[in-house]
Amino acid sequence: MVVLKWNGKKRKNDIPLEIKETGPYHILDIYSSNRRSFKLDKEWKNLLIWGENKLVMKSLLNTFKNRINLIYIDPPFATGGEFNLKIQIGENGNYLDNIAYKDKWKEGIDSYLNFLYERLVLMKELLSSNGSIYVHLDWHISHYIKLIMDEIFGSENFRNEIIWAYPAASVKTRRFFIRSYDTILFYSKSDDYKFNDNPKIYQEFSDRVKNALKKDDKGVFYYRGGSHNGKKLSRKVYIEKEGIFPRDVWNDIPYIRANTAEYQGFSTQKPERLLRRIILASTDRGDLVSDFFCGSGTTLTVAEKLDRKWIGCDSNMYSIHMIRKRILNVSKSNDTVNWKKSYNKDPSSFNILGIDKRDETNSIPKVFIRKDIRNKKVSELKGSTDFNVKIHQNDKKIKIELIDYKISFEDFVSDKIKEKIKSYSDWIDYWSIDFNSKNDIFKNMWFSYRTPKIRILPLKSDFYHYKESGSYKVSVKLIDIFGIETIKSYAIQVI
Ligand SMILES: C[S@@+](CC[C@H](N)C(=O)[O-])C[C@H]1O[C@@H](n2cnc3c(N)ncnc32)[C@H](O)[C@@H]1O
Repeated sequence: MVVLKWNGKKRKNDIPLEIKETGPYHILDIYSSNRRSFKLDKEWKNLLIWGENKLVMKSLLNTFKNRINLIYIDPPFATGGEFNLKIQIGENGNYLDNIAYKDKWKEGIDSYLNFLYERLVLMKELLSSNGSIYVHLDWHISHYIKLIMDEIFGSENFRNEIIWAYPAASVKTRRFFIRSYDTILFYSKSDDYKFNDNPKIYQEFSDRVKNALKKDDKGVFYYRGGSHNGKKLSRKVYIEKEGIFPRDVWNDIPYIRANTAEYQGFSTQKPERLLRRIILASTDRGDLVSDFFCGSGTTLTVAEKLDRKWIGCDSNMYSIHMIRKRILNVSKSNDTVNWKKSYNKDPSSFNILGIDKRDETNSIPKVFIRKDIRNKKVSELKGSTDFNVKIHQNDKKIKIELIDYKISFEDFVSDKIKEKIKSYSDWIDYWSIDFNSKNDIFKNMWFSYRTPKIRILPLKSDFYHYKESGSYKVSVKLIDIFGIETIKSYAIQVI
């Protein structure tokens, strides 16, 4: 077998796969829904994990070894670049660019290969025996990773090198051909893997075929032809399918545009249609889908809409926040069958997990700091945040009103941001309430948030009705435009 060697390559068996203690990840947030989509597994909760994926995957091995049916990853591609996500400010929704992740490898390509190799070994352990993995890359590194995938998953389990070809942005080069496709390596864990011939994954007929066909009143394609006893006929011959079984070149899925409903402002966001084809082909309803580099959460959103269970992970806390809102708002997003309609169903329950290090994130991203003090140490620029609420109580009913929010490091913030802030509420992106708070796990019983398109944020909650008299702790959580989270608790008496 041909094997790729690079500096510092570990032996597969040296990558520690088992951890003795239970994972350091615990539940930070709970979102409960009445929707029961997983008939066989009522207790199941989808998981959104904030953390470095190598550690996350190691901790998942305790419970999920050989249990994940599909893994799709879209990791950094070793481009040497930096990628942005847009944060939006307050009601007018002005955008500012923030760094989403860096794809820079100071130690060169060897360090990138080590990074992905270790993680792919862990993914194989998590994948079920009839599961599949899709690794999304491009010309920078896909040829190296193909060899690594052969080594880890076995060249006999290679299924496709999918070429996702999209119209290229105008590029200035006239010294080589314009690069306009990504490569998705598809492997299964064994020869006995799931693959569905589902008409919903089909590619549309090409324009040449469509021009040669006719459509009847119901929109079904037909052509005139057929023969009987050697005689040519001109009756209608219907084509039952609306397209062709997909080839490995996918040129029917456009790149995300800023004016589409699914756009989250994440520069490397992938289209939902791409994930729909992959998820429908390689899983059934109720199967478990994972993405350990989940970015803006495209895989998880599509899995949710197709009634699959999901586990997602990202090391960037802002990404996790973006996905939280994308999932909560899923009912308003486009349906996966009829893209013109909205999906119209509430999301299933999910938990957010993480190692609680909120303190470390209690500082604003460098790009938003005034230029003259940008080079100060992050620790010097740390500040605290605070908000106040008014509690409206009416017998056994209470309602919370948010009345202000302060960031003590407002002075560090660049003028570019400050001039866009018209009211305290413009700093706020999300807030939620746990009306019966018992421990560090936050039950988001009521929440309100801004979406990329709907910028209004209600500052008064709905009434919550307590069934029993007694003392309760009400916790309120606020997340600002920088992703900084503040939680405060209030004791109340219900008579
Ligand atoms: C190319 S983006 C994924 C985009 C995603 N497919 C989408 O449609 O939005 C890669 C993501 O991987 C995350 N990431 C990079 N290294 C990671 C690591 N070691 N652990 C967890 N997440 C990581 C980055 O923060 C980034 O959000």
